[in-house]
Amino acid sequence: MYTDIHFDTIDISRGAPDKEPERQYYFIAKCRQYTQQFFREMGRFPTATVQTFGCQMNARDSEKLTGILKAIGYREEEQEELADFVIFNTCTVRENANQKVYGRLGQIGKIKKSRPHMLIGLCGCMMQEAEEVEKIQKSYRQVDLIFGTHNIFQFAELLYRRLTSRRLVTEVWDGTDQIVEELPAERKYPFKSGVNIMFGCNNFCSYCIVPYVRGRERSREPQDILNEIRQLVSDGVVEIMLLGQNVNSYGKTLDQPMTFAKLLQEIEQIEGLKRIRFMTSHPKDLSEELIDVMAHSHKICRHLHLPIQSGSTRILEKMNRRYTKEQYLSLVSRLKEAIPELSLTTDIIVGFPGETEEDFQETLDVIRKVRYDSAFTFIYSRRTGTPAANMEEQIPQDMIKDRFQRLLTEVQTISSESCCIHEGSTQEVLVESIDSHEEGYVTGRMDNNLLVHFPGIPSMIGTFVRVYLKKCKGFYYIGELVK
Ligand code: SAH
Ligand code: SF4
Ligand code: F3S
Repeated sequence: MYTDIHFDTIDISRGAPDKEPERQYYFIAKCRQYTQQFFREMGRFPTATVQTFGCQMNARDSEKLTGILKAIGYREEEQEELADFVIFNTCTVRENANQKVYGRLGQIGKIKKSRPHMLIGLCGCMMQEAEEVEKIQKSYRQVDLIFGTHNIFQFAELLYRRLTSRRLVTEVWDGTDQIVEELPAERKYPFKSGVNIMFGCNNFCSYCIVPYVRGRERSREPQDILNEIRQLVSDGVVEIMLLGQNVNSYGKTLDQPMTFAKLLQEIEQIEGLKRIRFMTSHPKDLSEELIDVMAHSHKICRHLHLPIQSGSTRILEKMNRRYTKEQYLSLVSRLKEAIPELSLTTDIIVGFPGETEEDFQETLDVIRKVRYDSAFTFIYSRRTGTPAANMEEQIPQDMIKDRFQRLLTEVQTISSESCCIHEGSTQEVLVESIDSHEEGYVTGRMDNNLLVHFPGIPSMIGTFVRVYLKKCKGFYYIGELVK
């Protein structure tokens, strides 16, 4: 376990070991010399921040980067303009994700001019695109370090290279079949954590860049997952979120194949673990076995994120989603029947090439039939290199905007109604934070993923309490503690 490693006892006078993760432990130890020297010169340790864009996968990767930074001797500084080392963990799923990164990079570049010792690092999905890396190398000279999603585990080694060469270090791999276990990670919350169960994606939905930037699907060994969760639980974690682009196809590529449902059953056995969540589920791979396991579980939360993307079978086919509207609706009714209190959420794209008003009406029809608790709605973004980018019939922006507005209104009306059905009930919630809007209040998360704000004290954070849901406010509740 990396928690047993004492980095200062590693012999760094010799060459670096070839084997991972020992190689990275060695470079962590090497980098520690730098932070210790910084301390001697400046009277303080250097500070760092990892700024995350994109999904839960990136959020978990950022925790790993933060863990390595901490092991190296950096202290955390949340405000990026004050940090000695700023890392942007980027996303490229839609064009506006890229624009956000460039905006922030421009701002921090200006700050660096007056603080030349500052380091700027870039990693994540955007760095897997050669044209973005080229653009950064050419126009954003302030950047010190660039690496990708496949070699994120090399962070300490690449940082060491930058510290000793004082020139931009760029290392991005096209792909990997390696999964490096046992590196440090620093959790954002002491009581809950994401756990990767697989990496990459093999689905190639025709609009989506993820398979190109995250590579082929690879599942972690069940024993590694179980050990990590046991370790987290012994460290105070009560809720885990299993992460993968398509968790329902977990285990298919293992030497000894295993289903996701079976993995869940094994995780359920872990004593001290209270709640299990997972995302994302692809409808085409959601098995009857999983429905059964969810229905009988005491720990799996009654919440399922089940992206539909479009309600039109014709568009779904062009999206390469490999299910029809009818198959999706039938899956939803089987789920609702087996797990009556199940909360469903989804992702929807509007304006996919060739989408007609009739196709759009099909999407609205699904929303009305399923009655999601919430839906993430996206305007289709053309991603270079994906099949959809070359499809004819790209939809004009004003038409997309009009559909998007209508979609939003429909989604919001329905979800505020369906969220409110729990008003007047008492629920067990995990207290997550102090409420940032109301003094003397805390915020808790219910099993179904909805939030409730209620009068409470900071020491409740990380514990389960029972809360009476007094008033529904559309997407959240105001409640009171039940003694
Ligand atoms: N693996 C997950 C989704 C990952 S991306 C799944 O299959 O559900 C998260 C969401 O971003 C997707 O569900 C989709 O709705 C949206 N998305 C992906 N590519 C997009 C694009 N090119 N334009 C707009 N939205 C997109
Ligand atoms: Fe993208 Fe589809 Fe893979 Fe999800 S399943 S990451 S939408 S290709
Ligand atoms: Fe974005 Fe990469 Fe996630 S592209 S959505 S951060 S997998």
